[in-house]
Amino acid sequence: MSNDPSSVPDLEAMPFTEAFKKFKRLKLFEPSLGVLGFLFVSVCVILCFVYLDYRAVAKGFRFPAQSERFMWLQKNNSGSGKDLRVEFLGDKGGECDVFDGDWVWDDSYPLYHSNGCPFLDEGFRCTENGRPDLFYTKWRWQPRNCNLPRFDAKLMLEKLRDKRVVFVGDSIGRNQWESFLCMLASAVPNKDSIYEVNGNPITKHKGFLVFKFKDYNCTVEYYRSPFLVVQGRPPSGASQKIRIASQKIRTTLRLDQMDWNSGKWRDADVLVFNTGHWWNYEKTIRGGCYFQEGKEVKMEMSVESAYHRAIETVVHWIDTTVNPSRTQVFFRTYAPVHFRGGDWRNGGNCHLETLPELGSSLVPSESWLQFRIANIVLSEYSNTSRAMKFDVLNVTQLTARRKDGHLSLYYLGPKLSPAPIHRQDCSHWCLPGVPDTWNELLYALFLKHERTSTFNASTYRAPV
Ligand SMILES: *[C@@H]1O[C@H](CO)[C@@H](O)[C@H](O)[C@H]1NC(C)=O
Ligand SMILES: *[C@@H]1O[C@H](CO)[C@@H](O)[C@H](O)[C@H]1NC(C)=O
Ligand SMILES: *[C@@H]1O[C@H](CO)[C@@H](O)[C@H](O)[C@H]1NC(C)=O
Ligand SMILES: *[C@@H]1O[C@H](CO)[C@@H](O)[C@H](O)[C@H]1NC(C)=O
Ligand SMILES: *[C@@H]1O[C@H](CO)[C@@H](O)[C@H](O)[C@H]1NC(C)=O
Repeated sequence: MSNDPSSVPDLEAMPFTEAFKKFKRLKLFEPSLGVLGFLFVSVCVILCFVYLDYRAVAKGFRFPAQSERFMWLQKNNSGSGKDLRVEFLGDKGGECDVFDGDWVWDDSYPLYHSNGCPFLDEGFRCTENGRPDLFYTKWRWQPRNCNLPRFDAKLMLEKLRDKRVVFVGDSIGRNQWESFLCMLASAVPNKDSIYEVNGNPITKHKGFLVFKFKDYNCTVEYYRSPFLVVQGRPPSGASQKIRIASQKIRTTLRLDQMDWNSGKWRDADVLVFNTGHWWNYEKTIRGGCYFQEGKEVKMEMSVESAYHRAIETVVHWIDTTVNPSRTQVFFRTYAPVHFRGGDWRNGGNCHLETLPELGSSLVPSESWLQFRIANIVLSEYSNTSRAMKFDVLNVTQLTARRKDGHLSLYYLGPKLSPAPIHRQDCSHWCLPGVPDTWNELLYALFLKHERTSTFNASTYRAPV
């Protein structure tokens, strides 16, 4: 069992066979384990230094005068600076761009602890899996020009009474969904009153999972749909073309058709989409998955154009199918990965990162291609449409600074972690951690939306 790569809880970012090969190759080089051991010790020593530095940071906040070195971290985080900011939910908060800001150290975080949340996938429990530092749980997102409301789980549960919250997307979406479950569950003493309606366990489950908060008659659901559009068999007429092209078409992505499950999403009260991590060559064309529009398989279509088309389909679906007076839709933008010195296949790592990128301006990396493409479609849409029928959770930039928040070596469960140094996960996120912030932003926009639509209730007439 311990050698079985399928015991890795969530390596969607690492196709099964690749992971297996990698693992076998690793075994061939057993003699080099000594070297790895040495590396590991060195890493520990380095981590110790970082840790000490960090204590200085933490102290610096309690006794600012003692640590001039870290004074800059505090800029506008305390005293008069804070008082000048308006409240996002207040009358003057409307114009504030909540996605523009800084990460600030906050000792009152995290909002929950992984050992107090039974709904968390083993793979996301970094602390329980041996990650030595907790710093990554201590950063709060502070918008430049306003203050966010602090997440109030009880209030949110009241707002969600008799409602459905649906997350749709890839495993990073599941990461966010589990974070949301834990954030809400922190206000529910009796965890037995929260359960999966079909009795399914949370790990390794494909398809969908529906958690019910019994006392609130509210469900928080996750649908796995990494592409959001239909992935299915190629049309029968395509077989001739396949032979001519001598390429194997195993499946196609129907770029003009929303996922078959979309009927179940349409009537949700809150709907959160994400996609991006699967729109690359490895996860599509190389595995025999081509792109289809209408009945035609487009053998020459690039992944980028296909992704562009798919986002258009999603936006069009929201525009024409969802009733905005009933459903509040969010589209979360791409969450950047942080592999250093390679990617997931060849030893890319992030396990030495214990600090966010603070205050520096980021140069957008290639991994943001997915962000740029989605951004083009979303901006076009907001330009042409009367009113945006959905909110963009524009988290790419703020997330890009959190190279310290990934699972790295701590995703194999408490017994098997840490993972071999060459098999790091720098795509998914430790919980508690960065996805909590996405949900705090979701919470803020949700409350904002509620206020404006209540305020306008008498004059606002919903388009049918
Ligand atoms: C931070 O506060 C200083 C004054 O204390 C002000 O000059 C500066 O513009 C502020 N910076 C930001 C990013 O708000
Ligand atoms: C529970 O919520 C659903 C909507 O999600 C609603 O249709 C149903 O009537 C509610 N049940 C009760 C007992 O209020
Ligand atoms: C949307 O409109 C703004 C100004 O109104 C313009 O600067 C921007 O280029 C437009 N974007 C697209 C994609 O058309
Ligand atoms: C997201 O934020 C970035 C940077 O602030 C901006 O360039 C982009 O237009 C935003 N995208 C959307 C869809 O709001
Ligand atoms: C609601 O009212 C506010 C303030 O009067 C206004 O700015 C906003 O456009 C209105 N929204 C809708 C959907 O009518």
